[in-house]
Amino acid sequence: MSIEVRNLTLAYGEFRALDGMSVSMPSNSIVGLIGPNGAGKSSLFSVISGFIQPLEGEVRFLEQNLSGKAAFERARMGMCRTFQVPREFRHLTVLENMMAAPGDQAGESLWSLVFRRRRVAQEEQALRERAEKWMRFLRLDAVAGQPAGALSGGQKKLLELGRILMLEPRCVLLDEPYAGVNPVLIEQISERIAELHAQGIGFVIVEHNLHMLAKLASSLVVMDRGKLLAQGRPAEVMADERVREAYMGA
Ligand SMILES: Nc1ncnc2c1ncn2[C@@H]1O[C@H](COP(=O)(O)OP(=O)(O)OP(=O)(O)O)[C@@H](O)[C@H]1O
Ligand SMILES: [Mg+2]
Repeated sequence: MSIEVRNLTLAYGEFRALDGMSVSMPSNSIVGLIGPNGAGKSSLFSVISGFIQPLEGEVRFLEQNLSGKAAFERARMGMCRTFQVPREFRHLTVLENMMAAPGDQAGESLWSLVFRRRRVAQEEQALRERAEKWMRFLRLDAVAGQPAGALSGGQKKLLELGRILMLEPRCVLLDEPYAGVNPVLIEQISERIAELHAQGIGFVIVEHNLHMLAKLASSLVVMDRGKLLAQGRPAEVMADERVREAYMGA
């Protein structure tokens, strides 16, 4: 199982955030995606997950070309991303945020509201149970009734992960899960990622905390200026002279 990225180009005006990016990454392991600020890591996540269309190039996942598939279709295939800045609904509770994640419940159409009330109630109950299971897993159950806007930085990252888990992902693109998170919660987030991976979920993780990332990731992909710079085992990649130069130049 892999994510195949071929010759992606993405431009913001004149500036090429992705400039011929190609890489093949396993989608069922833990891959660290690193590179200096502005290298194009978040842009790559946006293109893989279908939030932005590239100018050129293609992404393949599960042997399928994803071009033309909307973000929700890719999420249904199991390809999900989190955002560098968490996007919780601040005024909703943690539980409500979790339950707002999935897309195709019967409760969303007027038809089912009128004619299938019982089924809607049953589905809502099942959804709530699933949300409660993941909140316990993420140690968010104690804050289930609090508004999400009141959570700490680390708890918001956990909630962001929780909302993705409600979609039953196969591969999760995590954008800076440790940014703005205190050291205790960084450890907790790492443990949860490792447990989820043991359950069969793959991760690609963008992170500037290379020390924590190297403990989790079995391989690293390095980007610089919108393209692939290096790829390999963490120790090899960190020792690569070109990688050191890219970081020092930034
Ligand atoms: N919406 C946008 N409009 C214009 N330029 C953008 C936009 N989004 C990103 N960029 C630029 O594209 C480049 C790549 O951005 P991107 O967010 O992909 O980098 P990154 O590797 O995730 O960096 P960081 O580590 O700082 O998060 C940067 O120079 C950024 O300023
Ligand atoms: Mg980024």
